[in-house]
Amino acid sequence: MSDSWAAEVNRIRRLQAADWRLLREVRLEMLSDTPMAYGESIAAARRQTDTQWQERAATMSGDSSITLVADDGADGSRIRGLMRVVIKQPQDPSQARQAMLISVYVAPEHRGLGLADQLLDEACAAASSELGAGVIELGVHEDNVRAKKFYARHGFEVTGASRPYPQDEAKQEIVMARRIRLLSGPSHPGHQAIAAY
Ligand SMILES: CC(C)(COP(=O)(O)OP(=O)(O)OC[C@H]1O[C@@H](n2cnc3c(N)ncnc32)[C@H](O)[C@@H]1OP(=O)(O)O)[C@@H](O)C(=O)NCCC(=O)NCCS
Repeated sequence: MSDSWAAEVNRIRRLQAADWRLLREVRLEMLSDTPMAYGESIAAARRQTDTQWQERAATMSGDSSITLVADDGADGSRIRGLMRVVIKQPQDPSQARQAMLISVYVAPEHRGLGLADQLLDEACAAASSELGAGVIELGVHEDNVRAKKFYARHGFEVTGASRPYPQDEAKQEIVMARRIRLLSGPSHPGHQAIAAY
């Protein structure tokens, strides 16, 4: 491992449909690394067919959501960080347009080095400028202390709302939210429901 993540992760870019194998690899890594962080089990993810991974990558790289990945840029590239923003459904009409931050992951060797900060800053900027969002919400497992601290440092506050964690209903998923500055109007006219991978 080098001293700087920048030496290993050459670029933050958008996921492409053609990245479906890289997506499968990192998704299985995420679900194995931090099972409590995502609403899908690794067993369910392992059952997905190649066609389903292709469809998932196509959805995640479509116009109505933003999927940022950090890859190492080398031959046989690997995704070392991922964050996704989708428009929340349904919307609360009393607030600015709400987006959801989902599928947050930075590989263990890149944690604490600023990659997560950079991904989140870019995700918030893109949510504002491309999705027209003024608020970003997320759900975090009550026991995920590291993620809660990370979000708090970035201005996310606990809203008071919570919901049972789908994989273990004895545990709660805490809702946090942050206002973001609206950079410009939405460039996506249709905000249809997006599969929340
Ligand atoms: C959540 C995640 C993206 C944050 O990225 P990161 O690089 O680890 O974040 P940072 O190191 O910048 O910040 C983490 C904070 O937790 C603290 N921390 C580090 N290790 C910790 C630990 N074991 N327990 C509690 N807090 C810890 C850090 O000191 C830091 O605190 P600060 O913000 O008050 O300084 C990353 O940890 C990750 O991918 N985790 C696994 C997947 C996950 O939990 N995703 C979130 C789903 S909601």
